[in-house]
Amino acid sequence: MTVTARAYPNIALVKYWGKADEDLILPVAGSMSMTLDDYPTTTSVTLADTETFNLNGTEQDGAGSARVHTFLGFIRDLAEKQGLPTATAHARVVSVNEGPTAAGMASSASGFAALAVAAAAAYGLDLDTKDLSRLARRGSGSASRSIIDRFAVWHAGDDESSYAEEIQAPDMAMISVPVATGEKAVSSRKGMVATATTSPFYPEWITSTEQILEEMIDACTAGDFTTIGEIAEVHAMRMHAVIAASRPSIRYLNSASLDVFDRIAQLREEGIETYGTADAGPNVFAITKPGDAAAVAKAFAPFTRDGDAKILFPGRGAHLVDTDQVRAGTGEQP
Ligand code: PMV
Repeated sequence: MTVTARAYPNIALVKYWGKADEDLILPVAGSMSMTLDDYPTTTSVTLADTETFNLNGTEQDGAGSARVHTFLGFIRDLAEKQGLPTATAHARVVSVNEGPTAAGMASSASGFAALAVAAAAAYGLDLDTKDLSRLARRGSGSASRSIIDRFAVWHAGDDESSYAEEIQAPDMAMISVPVATGEKAVSSRKGMVATATTSPFYPEWITSTEQILEEMIDACTAGDFTTIGEIAEVHAMRMHAVIAASRPSIRYLNSASLDVFDRIAQLREEGIETYGTADAGPNVFAITKPGDAAAVAKAFAPFTRDGDAKILFPGRGAHLVDTDQVRAGTGEQP
């Protein structure tokens, strides 16, 4: 039997950067994000005699497949704990990722969230949303948040208490401004270690992130879009600053990204309320009220390589989809 799940990337408004525990993937501070409604990863898992991983039509070996194999090991451990006969089974994993992989578009988040949901179902695990979030976290920290619908807060804590859960926030849109699609030079994993070990601003980053998360939660609860946007932009800049202060310096934003941030500031002066954020890559996301999304997308069309500034809204957390419909190309659309 084949089980299929779909998950979307999420873009953090309060960023996760740094681990308190490398093995368990526990963050040094909490974070908050919006799950998107496009760029899905759709993943099918079939129990099999040998373990294989196919991504976008190509069989994977090396580092990409090693992370998937390690993750399937966690699934088998859980199956054993739950006394399931599947505890010794291997799996064939087939994944289609519709966003640019490893270019700061959170492909690891949608990837491991979809894999967590599909593999948990294929192995017959009994897990609630909280446990699925904890499980996805082991694949990639930010994947814990892609389990959740719309807006998520991922708590720092121990293995039990570090999971993401939904938070209410006012409706908003994100305009993706893809200025580059290549693989990033330094993975998040390596960049986080370099920052933690060599950036003198790192302790301050941790304490200020905790404070800013509290402010963000208050602003979300109050439905205060202006404060949400201001906090999101300044926190993204702080993340890129603490990273840039590593030795040797690491820089994810390029000159095209900075041009986008400049235009965002200009749009604010022109009276369109929009704020910017960027993950560990050069692509920028503009945050707007839903009613301003079309105007902002239009302003950024000339900045993208293919004129495609995409409007994204809050989307669904990871969920099972009908495998037959996916094969026939009639699967549910966001
Ligand atoms: O989950 P990872 O290891 O891909 O790290 C993601 C880190 C950022 O995207 C830069 C920030 C975040 O909170 O998503």
